Amino acid sequence: MSNKFYITTPIYYVNDNPHIGHTYTTVASDVLARFHRMLSQEVFFSTGTDEHGAKIQEKANEAGKDPKVWADEISANFQFAWDELDISHDRFIRTTEEGHKQAVQKALQQMYDKGDIYLGEYEGLYCQGCEQYKSETDLVDGKCPDHGVEPEVIKEESYMFKMSGYQDRLYEAIKRDELEIRPVERKNEVLSFYEREGLKDISFSRQKVKWGIPLPWDESHTAYVWSDAFLNYLTVLGWEGTAGQTPEMWPAEIQIMSKDILRVHATIWPAMLLSLGLDLPKKLFIHGFFLVDGQKMSKSLGNVVTPAALKEKYGVDGARALLIGSASFGYDGDVSWEKLGERFNAQLANGIGNLVSRVLSLTEKNLDSKVPEVDIKECGEMTLRQEKKKKGGDDFLKLSAQVKESYLAKMEKLELDEAWEEIIRLTGHLDKHISDFELWKLIKEDKEEGARHIYSLLESIRQLAWLAWPFIPETAEKIWVSLGLDPGEEMSQDFNKALNWGGLKSGTLVHKGEPLFPRL
Ligand code: MSP
Repeated sequence: MSNKFYITTPIYYVNDNPHIGHTYTTVASDVLARFHRMLSQEVFFSTGTDEHGAKIQEKANEAGKDPKVWADEISANFQFAWDELDISHDRFIRTTEEGHKQAVQKALQQMYDKGDIYLGEYEGLYCQGCEQYKSETDLVDGKCPDHGVEPEVIKEESYMFKMSGYQDRLYEAIKRDELEIRPVERKNEVLSFYEREGLKDISFSRQKVKWGIPLPWDESHTAYVWSDAFLNYLTVLGWEGTAGQTPEMWPAEIQIMSKDILRVHATIWPAMLLSLGLDLPKKLFIHGFFLVDGQKMSKSLGNVVTPAALKEKYGVDGARALLIGSASFGYDGDVSWEKLGERFNAQLANGIGNLVSRVLSLTEKNLDSKVPEVDIKECGEMTLRQEKKKKGGDDFLKLSAQVKESYLAKMEKLELDEAWEEIIRLTGHLDKHISDFELWKLIKEDKEEGARHIYSLLESIRQLAWLAWPFIPETAEKIWVSLGLDPGEEMSQDFNKALNWGGLKSGTLVHKGEPLFPRL
């Protein structure tokens, strides 16, 4: 595994405020970014806002505002939402930044100079919601299936990008996984698009749209909003628009998005990279779409779920964990407040929160709040379930190794929700151990034996916090603090070493603290 890990989210349109869909993409990307940081990789995680184009110009007009003023407001709302959810991006980029605009102009100029952009006339069906031209086969009953509106016919002089020249090279790259597209169904969908329709030259400028980056060689045109937007993935790294000059973190290890913008990411974007003499991203990962109560979110239905509402109800980490658990990563999800609430209580309040509180209470009440003096290795070898005691069953060491192994395998395969489930399963095992051995009684009857059990549980919770950290960082750190550990010091360790049994030293003072996830 290379030590560099560059991960991107799409940059979101500022036509509207963030909702659960954007939040899901961003939280999932954050989990991956944090996971790779936890494995001591050099991570760069980017997100931002896409601020030009007809759609945004129109929104600003409707609101009676200057488009830049409008964009400033909505972009700030995105930044605020991500800060509120502990998103750990290294940089938030806005396409209205001067540096980005200059780099886009420089890059397009070079594509023009080399003959990859030429003047033509374009006639096509344009969906402003998608900011994309559509072919007849994309439409359902004459309407864009994503936006439910009939696209408008646009016929104007336009600079065209000679995308057709990259068909064969890209088809092969995708087929051979040089540019990996996952899940594999999505890859096949893209390949069949290449086979069926192929790459055609596309309109790369608009004369009528004033809210955009002017083309340097002909300022009566602005750059097509997607050509501007895609380059954010490079300019966010400080790229100044020079063809053939690769920013240090490029290529991206993984670009996360949903299926609505897969096609453009698998055609226009890589074709632009080839034209600019840069490497293709290594992987596009496409997650599913969220419905709310089985329906598409819309203002008119009043079912839009916002990140602020999620945070208010479930707290930062509650919101993060519930989002990840709401869909199998790569496939569609359906959320409802009822289901979210049930899962909050089951996994967080009665799950992780209750377990940590039980173990710490036992320690406070029976062991003077101290990690007991025990033979640590012996504790690790202690059998987990009473009924297995005589036959010899799984012990804490085995459980810890097994959970770590399947957690890592699932994270590597990007099965984020499954990796989260491992943490919940571990929680269940530990909780069951307390009940199976009736530890509240055992510790009174046989203090030495009880203390060994309690050590094993405290140490397992320390480890659980490691696995949980990418998902629920604030809670993981609270757990370490309760265990008398310094989160900074804990995190400064190498992941594999940290997960060796016995990180928790006897004699350390613990304290229970506030409930981690108060019941709803
Ligand atoms: N601005 C473009 C992207 C440019 S990237 C160079 C754009 N913006 S967007 O605001 O419409 O964001 C689309 C993305 O937001 C989706 O690909 C997905 O990541 C996320 N989601 C928006 N709605 C969603 C759902 N209902 N469900 C899941 N995610 C969705 O397209």
